[in-house]
Amino acid sequence: MDKFIIEGGTPLNGTINISGSKNAALPIIAASLLGDSETTITNIPRLQDIYTFNNVLRVVGAKVDFQDKKNTLIIDPTNVSHLEAPYDLVRKMRASFYMLGALVGKHGYAKVSLPGGCAWGPRPVDLHLKGMEAMGIDIDLDKGYVIAKADKNLKKSSFKLEPSSVGATVNLLLASVLRTEEFTIENAAMEPDVVQLCNVLVKMGADISGIGTDRITVRGVESLSGVEIANDPDRIEVGTFMIAGVLHPDSELTLEGCNVDHLGNLPELLSKTGAKVEVDGSTIKVKAPKELEAVSVATEVYPGFPTDMQAQWATMMTQANGVSTVTDTVYYDRFSYVPELTRLGADMRLEKNTVTIFGKTDFEGASVMSTDLRASVSLVLAAMVAENETEVLRVYHLDRGYENLEHKLNAVGAKIKRVDE
Ligand code: EPZ
Repeated sequence: MDKFIIEGGTPLNGTINISGSKNAALPIIAASLLGDSETTITNIPRLQDIYTFNNVLRVVGAKVDFQDKKNTLIIDPTNVSHLEAPYDLVRKMRASFYMLGALVGKHGYAKVSLPGGCAWGPRPVDLHLKGMEAMGIDIDLDKGYVIAKADKNLKKSSFKLEPSSVGATVNLLLASVLRTEEFTIENAAMEPDVVQLCNVLVKMGADISGIGTDRITVRGVESLSGVEIANDPDRIEVGTFMIAGVLHPDSELTLEGCNVDHLGNLPELLSKTGAKVEVDGSTIKVKAPKELEAVSVATEVYPGFPTDMQAQWATMMTQANGVSTVTDTVYYDRFSYVPELTRLGADMRLEKNTVTIFGKTDFEGASVMSTDLRASVSLVLAAMVAENETEVLRVYHLDRGYENLEHKLNAVGAKIKRVDE
């Protein structure tokens, strides 16, 4: 297993090009199975989760060609015949559960393993299943697998997501576009990843209204065709590097290839810490303040502050003057990074789904353990401001969601060495 050895204390200066978004790519890769012809997607990041999902599509019979030097994925769904997604692949990557909506949506039958949990606890899929039943799809559970069956022209119906769920919205869209007379999703997720999926499905020939709102209505169509699309840039990578660019007082970073419309209130919140944030089209410039001010945040569904950014924000607050709190209202127990930051010298108090941070604390390098994707990147951020050397273990978590992370950061002044431990 690889680890990072990071020499802290150097400012970051220069330009980073943002990669394509993993979380935006996965739903449209699944959607390609709904088409009657080949789909080509550009700006696909070279990440473990993408490779894993490509293998899931190959298991069901799709022809998948990932021209990874060009970050381009070509999927030919015309020979899909094995309508099952096995446990050993689904457990590796939760979003494989999107195969349920794609296969039952296209073929009227799917047998997909229930996803496993993840580092920070159970992540249910009850809304996915209840929503499909509301749509008129038969759902059975059999030895850890979901078996879904559906006729065409399912009667007009609707379903309200409580709480709102990205994954459930994605799965219900995939299941409905070819199956339902009319299906309305109430309290639908409004994340850019969902908007991109809707726009791609419409380009394929689907009939969807309410795109970008919390009430999406699908009217079924006879067939969908393959398309050529460019995947969105990764909004969480943008947020992560914006924070990386304000941790050392002499840092100044330029981020190219961003979609600022996907960042919600993040630029404005970051400015409240004293950082300078300049937006010019798809370029964002951040300049660190001499001293960071403490700013509290609470995560919300989009367009609120994203839960995928709370670990990174908490890490930044350890370097700010004053007391701040970070509350996660989406995942109540997504705080496995707190004890690891404490090992570096952070002064943090965790109570239920709120961590209180007493800044500013100086970090001393130590060995720390990655536990999940976003917690791991917050340890890398912390290590870059710690005195001396920090060892970040199990960086395979990072390889799931950040393309060429150490190369991008080293190119702007970080000192990160990847070692096979
Ligand atoms: C997506 O996960 C993202 N993953 C997550 O990013 C992200 O943290 C999350 O959305 C929230 O924004 C992908 O896009 C692949 P949810 P998802 O369903 O769809 C509850 C990362 O780091 N819920 O929106 O699984 C759930 O427990 C990953 O890239 C139910 O109760 O998240 C949570 O509290 C981590 N029942 C809330 O909804 C359900 O059936 C939001 O979860 C489904 C969800």
